[in-house]
Amino acid sequence: MEVSSVEEIKEGMRGAEYLCDDSIATALLLAGRMNKPILAEGPAGVGKTDLAKAYSRMTSLELIRLQCYEGLDEAKALYEWNYKKQLLRIQADRSEGGTWEELEDDLFSEDFLLPRPLLKAITSPGRVVLLVDEVDKADVEFEAFLLELLSDFQVSIPELGTVEARMMPFVVLTSNRTRDLSEALRRRCLFLYIDFPDAARELEIIRLRVPGITEGLARRVLAVVRYIRQMDLKKVPSISETLDWANAVRVLGKEVLDEELIESTLSLLVKEQKDLEKVQANLKTLARQALD
Ligand SMILES: Nc1ncnc2c1ncn2[C@@H]1O[C@H](COP(=O)(O)OP(=O)(O)OP(=O)(O)O)[C@@H](O)[C@H]1O
Ligand SMILES: [Mg+2]
Repeated sequence: MEVSSVEEIKEGMRGAEYLCDDSIATALLLAGRMNKPILAEGPAGVGKTDLAKAYSRMTSLELIRLQCYEGLDEAKALYEWNYKKQLLRIQADRSEGGTWEELEDDLFSEDFLLPRPLLKAITSPGRVVLLVDEVDKADVEFEAFLLELLSDFQVSIPELGTVEARMMPFVVLTSNRTRDLSEALRRRCLFLYIDFPDAARELEIIRLRVPGITEGLARRVLAVVRYIRQMDLKKVPSISETLDWANAVRVLGKEVLDEELIESTLSLLVKEQKDLEKVQANLKTLARQALD
């Protein structure tokens, strides 16, 4: 699907169950046109990962995800040789009796390569969406390697030569900012800060993602969540928690959010013991938020 305007992207993304504001839609449009990666940064649970997933749903492009973590290296991200298969091949060769040169050529051919997400994205015959999730969790060395890859989308595999991307992937990197990313990486990307949505947008998100919820219940859920959010907590509820809670209340078949209901389902919204205690001390006020 070739999208040509911000409005069209908003429309298309809504169809993929993701609500974009203008800045998100503009970033998606530009990234597609300029072949630049998006670097989406922001607090937990505001829709950074789902941005890439929804874009892949909208465009029907395959999603390839690289989940970053401490210690992630090229072998896990790009490719590895399939040692087991190589070993079996060597054993088979002993009985066949070929030359060592032939065997070596064979052992380091594509047949024995285990492509990991980055190589998959590069060698894919069609355009793909490449999600490099939580890049801030990877080590600085890996970030440097990634930067190189993002700038020319080719890799050299010593035994095979250079592999170039046939089609530039649509790349989304996400970060929770547990550490600062390099200036070079930022420069390479279209930077997109995703924050908590305003009340109107969040209400729309609830209605979009919680099938069958009434407008009234969605409003009451949101009133409670937004009240909790401005309390001084270690971790405030994000869109994820809002949606979980709204779903739970719906499953329970409740329309009224009274103290009892809030108390019994609070752990879906607030996930730190200290925070729970604080919120529990305010149940009356919370239930009052939920009165129309
Ligand atoms: N704009 C949006 N429209 C529709 N759904 C959204 C939107 N933003 C977030 N969500 C929903 O909120 C939930 C959390 O989103 P997601 O997992 O993408 O957050 P995240 O920013 O990647 O969080 P984390 O930093 O913890 O990984 C998902 O269920 C997602 O579908
Ligand atoms: Mg995420």
